[in-house]
Amino acid sequence: MAIVKVSSEDMKVVSSAILSLCEYFRELSAKNNRKITFYIHTYGCQLNESDSEKLHAMCLAMGLEYSKDEHADVVLFNTCAIRENAEDRLFGNLGAYKSEKISNRNMIIAVCGCMMKIEDNVSRIKNSFPYVDLVFDPQQLHKFPLLLLSSINRKKQLIEVGDVDYITDDSLVPPNRLRKFRALVPIMYGCNNFCTYCVVPNARGRERSREFQPIINEITTLAREGYKEVMLLGQNVNSYGKDAGFKETFPDLLRAISNIEGLSRVRFMTSHPKDLNREVIDIMATCKNIETHLHLPVQSGSDAILTRMNRHYNREQYLEIVRYFRSIVPNGSISTDIIVGFPGETEEDFQDTLSLVDEVKYDSAFTFQYSPRPGTEAAKYEDQIPHDVVTERFGRLLKLQNELTYESNQRLIGSLQEVLIEGESSTATNILTGRTRSNHLVNFTIPDSLKGEGEGEFDASSYEGKLCNVKITNARPYSVEGLMENLIDG
Ligand code: 5AD
Ligand code: SF4
Repeated sequence: MAIVKVSSEDMKVVSSAILSLCEYFRELSAKNNRKITFYIHTYGCQLNESDSEKLHAMCLAMGLEYSKDEHADVVLFNTCAIRENAEDRLFGNLGAYKSEKISNRNMIIAVCGCMMKIEDNVSRIKNSFPYVDLVFDPQQLHKFPLLLLSSINRKKQLIEVGDVDYITDDSLVPPNRLRKFRALVPIMYGCNNFCTYCVVPNARGRERSREFQPIINEITTLAREGYKEVMLLGQNVNSYGKDAGFKETFPDLLRAISNIEGLSRVRFMTSHPKDLNREVIDIMATCKNIETHLHLPVQSGSDAILTRMNRHYNREQYLEIVRYFRSIVPNGSISTDIIVGFPGETEEDFQDTLSLVDEVKYDSAFTFQYSPRPGTEAAKYEDQIPHDVVTERFGRLLKLQNELTYESNQRLIGSLQEVLIEGESSTATNILTGRTRSNHLVNFTIPDSLKGEGEGEFDASSYEGKLCNVKITNARPYSVEGLMENLIDG
């Protein structure tokens, strides 16, 4: 697979496409006497969310207006391929747009994201969804305006899926950040690990680290703009810089970011156990603004399954990292990803996973039923596990993890926690929601005495992105509850 660096000259061509699109949409708007709108469906992980923030910015630059509902003139689907159910959702949703596309002659539907790197999905769009105008893969994201312009001009389906991995300077496509409380900052793209179950290396290509200084500049600007928290993204952040031979390593990057003035929280994911070293954990223990939460996907507790998954660590090596983390970050938390029912998984292997989970006492976990993905090694293995066995094991794992999550929440009762406020709780009014430095979810109330007199209706959005101290009073299965003691930053 070729790796090509995108130059600022290349981006000038993209900018000129944006200008042409501005003109096109302005005329369309005048003809229809209304604003021309866009909507983005985003599936999957934070990296996809981050890509959607860039697509969002490009749409705004073209003069489109963001639509609050799914009915828009330009509709984008940013897809995920990690498990089969994410794909089913896309095709269901695409079908629902057919009648809208017939009644709105100028409507444009584009599909991008990891699913578009799987040939069968592209064929299915070609054959069953001819009304999709544009298909492109995640590596072509920076070219979106150029592709959109071509698809409008040629008036027939345009498919742009290639085997080139582009390196773009993210400052050429600055994102339109959708949250006030957390800025997503990719530090690298792609993955070189080829875990045998995973579609990501095919979908996202080889590892490409962003240069050190542009990352620092971007985060310095974010801190100046008032962002309290950044989340550094990469499939394997601990191998930052290795692909490009940078002298700076991930610990160097973390240290430099933690020194940026005004930044209260730095999160990062994902750490691969084979590459996470003690230096990173030492930084977590000593730098006050690095989160005390480690997301460390284990996938399985069985050495035999870890080998078949091509994970390059064993159970004992994993546990050693966990013990070190627990010993020097005493109030820290650990979360993980676990796959149940990987091909060849015996009851004994599964028992190893249960015992590991019990030993680590994860504060939370994302648990998945194995889903065979096209083009991966494990999909070819003959010893696939029957669905009923997978669901039965999955139920047992979930029950154990739910107990551990609840216990982790109970341990917080009575403590004072620094919480970054994310906004109003989605399930109750007048209740704010946020996260502790250890990533525990907190729902809390503000005593009337702290709300300020005579300021009218309670406005939850005015608290978004602020830090406060919360006294934890109660634990729930997936969250804790509390009472705000004071705002930290006014
Ligand atoms: N089936 C089930 N879960 C998977 N994951 C990745 N690929 C698969 C698959 N084929 C899970 C892994 C990974 C997380 C992001 O998704 O646990 O860490
Ligand atoms: Fe997939 Fe493994 Fe890469 Fe994570 S490290 S993205 S699980 S191949």
